[in-house]
Amino acid sequence: MKSFKDKVAVITGAGSGIGRHLAILLKEAGASVAICDINEQTLVETKNILQKYKTKTSMHIIDVSCKRSTNLLPQDVLREHGEVDILFNNAGVTVNDSFEDTSETDWDWVINTNLHGIINLTRAFLPVLKGKNQAKIINLSSIFGMIAIPNQSAYHVTKFGVRGFSESLSKELANTNISVHCVHPGHIGTNIAANARMSAKPKSIDPLQKIMGKFLSIGTTQNEMSDYFKKFGMHPSRAAQIILAGVLKNKKRIFVGLDAKLMDLSQRLLPMHYEKLFPFFLLPITILRNKKPVK
Ligand SMILES: NC(=O)c1ccc[n+]([C@@H]2O[C@H](COP(=O)([O-])OP(=O)(O)OC[C@H]3O[C@@H](n4cnc5c(N)ncnc54)[C@H](O)[C@@H]3O)[C@@H](O)[C@H]2O)c1
Repeated sequence: MKSFKDKVAVITGAGSGIGRHLAILLKEAGASVAICDINEQTLVETKNILQKYKTKTSMHIIDVSCKRSTNLLPQDVLREHGEVDILFNNAGVTVNDSFEDTSETDWDWVINTNLHGIINLTRAFLPVLKGKNQAKIINLSSIFGMIAIPNQSAYHVTKFGVRGFSESLSKELANTNISVHCVHPGHIGTNIAANARMSAKPKSIDPLQKIMGKFLSIGTTQNEMSDYFKKFGMHPSRAAQIILAGVLKNKKRIFVGLDAKLMDLSQRLLPMHYEKLFPFFLLPITILRNKKPVK
């Protein structure tokens, strides 16, 4: 695929963050989009932003963890657009808690959204994508699909799982018209931390968090953590730009941000002790990173 012009892209989680900016940049590139989210209010905001572009936008309120709605989505999108070329499996959530303090309900919420959501939508759209000359499936994993930290066990299960699923599927479909891409972002300044679930119990703070907290004046309440997360991450428009460039270059594994690339390198160098290397680069990257939107 040389460009996104005249393509039809389905984007889940398009009501916020990376998904919203994928939709904006795809429309700028001349694509039509089917924007999907569980949150009607924020999805309408995205739709309003997209109004200035000429190509078609359709809006779909769906819960990606609900099989009934993921099974119905292809026919809804085909009714609106007549075809589908690209599926961005982007919707995601997290829980910020130890395994012991994570309720079964919250555990299932993360697994069903991040992992089963991607699997169900891939299953639902494969027959449609097979009909095209060239088609793409882009799955959002994370750098947390490469390395693990405490208090994110449910998220890690899903993001390591998405990576395994994507790489296996990519090999299965190697000689077909469909290419599969797996995305591993580092820290992107979105609403994911604000929307995270967590218990009121105090969390253990590791030495790196202590250093980061001291230099960046991060508090420990969820509001303080999510403000820091949004303020100090890469702007989601830059993340979307990197993802789309990687897809057009046909990269099967797309790292987003220097933090993600260096964390991946750390786990290759020190497979069981990679976190020892993080203090050398995470704080300077966080302070120096360009946090502005593209353009
Ligand atoms: N922000 C980061 O630092 C970061 C890093 C690595 C990976 N990611 C991944 O990027 C993807 C996008 O996240 P983001 O950072 O833009 O977060 P975000 O919270 O800003 O956006 C996520 C969107 O997904 C939607 N969503 C949640 N559950 C849903 C469901 N069941 N059905 C449909 N939509 C649902 C939300 O309403 C929201 O609009 C996620 O898969 C996330 O895990 C983010």
